[in-house]
Amino acid sequence: MAEIDYSKRSFSYYPTNAIVYATCIEGKWSKPVVTDNFNFSLHCFAGVFHYAPCCFEGLKAFRGVDGRVRLFRPDENAKRMESSAQYLDMPAPSMELFLDMCVSCVQANWEFLPPTDSCGSLYLRPVLFGINPQLGIHSSRDVMFAVMASGVGTYSGAKILVPGTAVLSRNYDRAATYGSGGYKLGANYAQSLHAYNLAHKMGYRELLFLDSATHTHIEEFGSSNFFAIKHGCYITPNSPSVLPSITNKSLRKVAEEFGLKVERRTIFVDELETFEEVNSCGTAVVITPISRIDDKVTLESGTITREYKYLDECGPISRKLYDRIIGIQKGMEEDTYGWCMFVNEPK
Ligand code: PLP
Ligand code: COI
Repeated sequence: MAEIDYSKRSFSYYPTNAIVYATCIEGKWSKPVVTDNFNFSLHCFAGVFHYAPCCFEGLKAFRGVDGRVRLFRPDENAKRMESSAQYLDMPAPSMELFLDMCVSCVQANWEFLPPTDSCGSLYLRPVLFGINPQLGIHSSRDVMFAVMASGVGTYSGAKILVPGTAVLSRNYDRAATYGSGGYKLGANYAQSLHAYNLAHKMGYRELLFLDSATHTHIEEFGSSNFFAIKHGCYITPNSPSVLPSITNKSLRKVAEEFGLKVERRTIFVDELETFEEVNSCGTAVVITPISRIDDKVTLESGTITREYKYLDECGPISRKLYDRIIGIQKGMEEDTYGWCMFVNEPK
């Protein structure tokens, strides 16, 4: 196979060898199947086509400097998928099945694990969705669980840690106050697509959502969590309608390790002007610095844009956090927390 240049890849679907899937029918899970057939055959009345009983996960496998392959905190993804499925009142794979299928998927796509010194990773996308035919509004009794993979480059397709701009979402919400924002449901992303398209058309890389009740405080980006650095503090929103990011959770630990104070609290929009470093964080984006956030406020006299400006490069503290997380993921730094799960090369 021709060598892949991961520096030219972005966060997209790139073909791989195989996917792994299992079904749960009437409460009984099938054995996982590894297949090179990427097409599912589904009943056209399957719940997923109507009422969106669908949740998913995202995690990465890395080839380490020691040649060993690591999955980063897959147990956390398994737990979050279980909580998403519970919210949808549908069956979820057990921790054991989830981990087993992630490992099988990496092994089946071993040749697509990017080299350690590249900016790439093998991104796994576990999906869980309702498949039994239905017409009335019910949760799904039967589900399909599949783990797919793509050998990805950086999220933006740019070099690592290249800052991008964001705009506050003043006219569209991602999640309702008592809604599903804290779960990784496909429906949450459907909710943000139109607003995202508008932001992209205006040239912004990211869209930053506010709380839906008051539009006064920061929630998260459409693709990732928000964190900022100020006076030696790592500050990130605390809200039930924000997705509990595994990257953010890990960064909070690392921040404490570096002697930063960690604050999870309400962040009012006005506080944006006081931050020294602002970033998005998540599995796909890792840490992506934000160089400017625009707030387009509509007044009777027209729209004015308030600009919050940050560094044009990654800030020094964010860089340290990035290096530690990537260091753990690629085996360059000691995994003091036991976050990585090793995957053996297939025989
Ligand atoms: N918030 C949203 C809306 C996301 O899509 C993601 C990505 O998964 C995150 C936050 C970050 O979560 P994690 O770090 O678990 O990938
Ligand atoms: C991830 O970071 O794994 C995600 O799922 C976010 C993606 C939808 C951009």
